[in-house]
Parts: sequence; structure tokens; C-alpha cells
Amino acid sequence: METKLLTASPQAIEEAARLLRAGETVGIPTETVYGLAADATNSAAVKKIFEAKGRPQDNPLIVHISCMEELDRVVRRIPQETYQLAQAFWPGPLTIIMEKSDAIPGTTSAGLDTVAVRMPSHPVAREIIRASGLPLAAPSANLSGLPSPTTAEHTFRDLKGRVPLIIDGGPCSVGVESTVITVAGDKPTLLRPGYITKEQLEAALGREVALSSAILNKLADGEVAASPGMKYKHYSPRANVIILKGSFEAYRAYLASHAQDGAFAMCYEGEEALLDLPCIPCGRADDPASQAHALFAALREADDRNAKVVYAHCPAQDGLSMAVYNRLIRAAAFQVVEL
Ligand code: TXA
Ligand code: MG
Repeated sequence: METKLLTASPQAIEEAARLLRAGETVGIPTETVYGLAADATNSAAVKKIFEAKGRPQDNPLIVHISCMEELDRVVRRIPQETYQLAQAFWPGPLTIIMEKSDAIPGTTSAGLDTVAVRMPSHPVAREIIRASGLPLAAPSANLSGLPSPTTAEHTFRDLKGRVPLIIDGGPCSVGVESTVITVAGDKPTLLRPGYITKEQLEAALGREVALSSAILNKLADGEVAASPGMKYKHYSPRANVIILKGSFEAYRAYLASHAQDGAFAMCYEGEEALLDLPCIPCGRADDPASQAHALFAALREADDRNAKVVYAHCPAQDGLSMAVYNRLIRAAAFQVVEL
């Protein structure tokens, strides 16, 4: 099929809404990453998302809404914690897991009795949801396994010929996917770190938030993932990504002794002149938001430059850095060298 790429405008948004109501998929901008949207209540439409992305059927989708009234339609009941979190972080990069209503088919929730819901803040995403009048299921708009797209061009490269329309709303401001928290169990649990940190969630809820063990560690063989998406090798360029953990001096020395053909350094801005390898800078060393913003584009750049191996200097693991580390360690298939 032909894939149209349209700059966001009232006409483009109306065209997107028309296709979504007709059960088609559309690539849409959000503040986190680009999403591939379809009517979350229409099983046949949602199947097209899985097909276009090559996504495993057991990985549930996030449902996007534009106002609190729409929440009633997709969940069975709204827990008190949801009001607290929505008050603090919606619209914005937070996804909340609750018991699903009958309006959400098993195709969307991958057979689970819960559903993940998010109210994005990107004005174009909000307009598209409003114009369609539908809750929209939307995973990241990458081919399954590749880095998430943070521009319309990335989305077009992955999904050209697979979807009828992509709306260009400019580069994503956050750059990593939303924080995912579940309030469906006994205690609120962080399932995927993102721009909203564990500390911010705890402040809004006034209680401790548990951390799913899959966030920073590889699942043991046979262990069940609380969030199915966390179990896959993910976000990976073709290049072999290896994380190097240690001081900048140790990182620099390691690179000097591994300067073979096709090897690249994923470093921080301003370090290029000090390193012996061709560099792909990824944000500033002291600024995790800039790293989150740059990470997926940097991983895609590695492929554009035909990198064989990418040596990434290990980021911190707390606050917003937890999101960067969580994505990077999956891109690296958990290969970490302690220096
Ligand atoms: O920022 C984002 O969240 C982006 C934009 C497009 O909104 N979307 C996104 O979707 O990242 P996706 O499908 O790439 O990631 C959804 C994550 C997966 O890890 C999935 O397993 C988890 O959320 N998830 C969805 N529903 C769940 C549920 N009911 N229980 C546990 N985990 C769930
Ligand atoms: Mg994804």
C-alpha cells in the first residue's frame, strides 16, 4: 500500500480521524515517541497494528485517551491512585494499568484482564483522539525490535508500505516511551521507567512504589514478565551494542585498545575530541533529559553509519537515568563490561 506522510494540519488530522474510524492504522506523533494508532475497541483494526509492526501477539498495547470522561469507557473502575496520578501527570508521559472494561477486546490487552491507559500531552495526538472520537491503541511506531521512532522520518522508514498514513508533528520532546505503573494490584508497581521518575510517582501517591525486577535486570529463564514488553531484546540497531561501565578515563582507555574497523563510541557531547573512535554523541553527560531525547536517534545513526559494534558509556541508573539505562541495556541485549 502507499503510505502518505502529511504535516499536521486541520485537514491532515481530519484525514487521520477518518481512517481511524474506518478501522485503519495511522502513525501519530506523541511527546514521548511516535505511535502506531488504531481504534482500541476494534479487534480487526488492532490486529493491523500487530501485523504492520511484526509485534508478538502476547505484548499488550497502550490505550490513548484525551480526557477523563473517556477513561470510564475503557476501565472497569477507577482506583483512587489513578486520580492522584492523573492530577499530577496527565496529560503527559505516564501510563497507568487498571482493570479493563468489556469495551477493550483481548486483542488490545493481549488476553490480560488489565489495560494500560495514557493521556498524551502532544497537541496533535490529542486532536487526533478527539477528532476520531475513539480511544486509540498505540504502541511505539517502530518495526518490532528496532529503536522507537522519535521523528516522522524514522516512522516512515520503518512503516512505509505497511500503513496508509503518518502525521508529522515534529520531533518528540521526551524521546523515550512513557513511564508505566500498575495500580491494579495490592501496591503500585513501576513496570517501565520513563520521564516521570519513581520519586515523582511516590510524591504524588504519598506512598512507596515498588520496582519490577525486570527493569534493570534480565529475567531469569522461565520467569514471567509483569509487563510483557520488558522481556524482549528491544530497541536494537543491527550493530552489536556493548555497555562499558566505569570512569571516563577507563572508558577512554578501553576504546583506545578496541579501535577496530566498524567500532563506534556512543559518548556524551564534548567528549568526541578525547576518544580514538568515530563518535555518536548522545546528549550531555550531566543532563539525563538530553540523553533520553537523543538515545533512539543515536541508535538509528549507528545503523546509518554501518557500525558493527557500538561501545556505550554506561549512564547512571537513578531518576530519569533509569529510563535511559533500561532502554540501553535492552539495545545491548544485557552485555555490560565492568571496567
Ligand atoms: O510513550 C509511550 O508509551 C508510547 C507512545 C506511542 O504512547 N507507546 C508505547 O507502547 O511505548 P509500546 O507498546 O511500545 O509499549 C507498551 C508497554 C509494553 O512494555 C507492554 O508490555 C506494556 O506497556 N503493557 C501494556 N499493557 C499492559 C498491561 N495490561 N499489563 C502490563 N504491561 C502492559
Ligand atoms: Mg515499543
